[in-house]
Amino acid sequence: MPFLHNAWYVAAWADELSSSTLFTRTILGEQVLLYRDPEGMPVALSNICPHRFAPLHKGRLDKGIVECPYHGLAFNSNGQCARNPHGNGHIPPNMKLRQYPVREQFGIVWIWPGDAALADETALLTHDFLDPAHNMVTMRYLRMKANYQLTIDNALDLSHLQYLHAGSIGSDSIVRSEPAFRQEGNTVWSTRQIHSEKLPNDICKLLGLPNETHANRRLEVRCDPPGLITLRVEVNGIEGAPTLSYTTRSVHLRTPETESTTHYFYAFSYPMEMGKKGADFLKNLTDMLTYPFEKEDLPMLEMQQQIIGNKDFMSMQPTLLPIDGAAIRARRVMDQLIADERDTPHLKQA
Ligand code: FES
Ligand SMILES: [Fe+2]
Repeated sequence: MPFLHNAWYVAAWADELSSSTLFTRTILGEQVLLYRDPEGMPVALSNICPHRFAPLHKGRLDKGIVECPYHGLAFNSNGQCARNPHGNGHIPPNMKLRQYPVREQFGIVWIWPGDAALADETALLTHDFLDPAHNMVTMRYLRMKANYQLTIDNALDLSHLQYLHAGSIGSDSIVRSEPAFRQEGNTVWSTRQIHSEKLPNDICKLLGLPNETHANRRLEVRCDPPGLITLRVEVNGIEGAPTLSYTTRSVHLRTPETESTTHYFYAFSYPMEMGKKGADFLKNLTDMLTYPFEKEDLPMLEMQQQIIGNKDFMSMQPTLLPIDGAAIRARRVMDQLIADERDTPHLKQA
């Protein structure tokens, strides 16, 4: 199951990187070393020492120089070997680490695992509602022992809210609302407009409404390659409070770790002018939604992955339903991009 290499993926939340500590994260099957240089710029290098393949994140970081824990070879933030403490100190020309293009925007550190020469040609998907200059943001992370495409299927399929999330964010009204799917270029949308829904009690509690209040809820999921989900939820037409409406935007960004594991970064935000009340609401919202993500979606995805094993999902010939329309479109987009990368010489992976 190949990956798309020439794309921007989330490597980390910005506050995971520091200029005093090293950490490693496996991205598309490659061990990447992540830290900041003395100017605070993010750095992504291969985590594997070219001498005898020691893991560099176990070494020391001093003024942007990484020292291998095994025999002390040192590398600068361009990946060049800066010091060989042995013999005459000769540095063989191939004694260097792969350096990955990185970008930092709105609290996200992005990495380009493909051909570095192509990185500048592709713009980042911008989530300006995460801009910390104007917004309060909660950022969370989960590691899922499931293939990243399976996790994207889950996000685009809103029908599962009624069943898998029956005790949290789902309700009996979900599947009687018509699913709508739309595709523009490589972007796929999945939406549900639910009318006069008996809101789940967790949502009533969050909004300060009596249990079993009825309202309209609109769910809109946008999916951009290579696994970037933006979710917009609107609640209006609230019984007893018809002038109130709530809109929540969030990101759910997937980066493959391996073929069967996924890094899941999710974030919610509200404008700073909402003040303390908004900050409390944001925290309660994030905590409330972490429960179904962590305790309902994640175990289901991991159980599916255990059954699928290392087989390709589509090769198992799933019996698909109309509710899978968005997930299938998103899979087709990725299949096409991966095929283009494979078949076009100048798009080959690094
Ligand atoms: S393995 Fe890194 S210096 Fe020997
Ligand atoms: Fe879910």
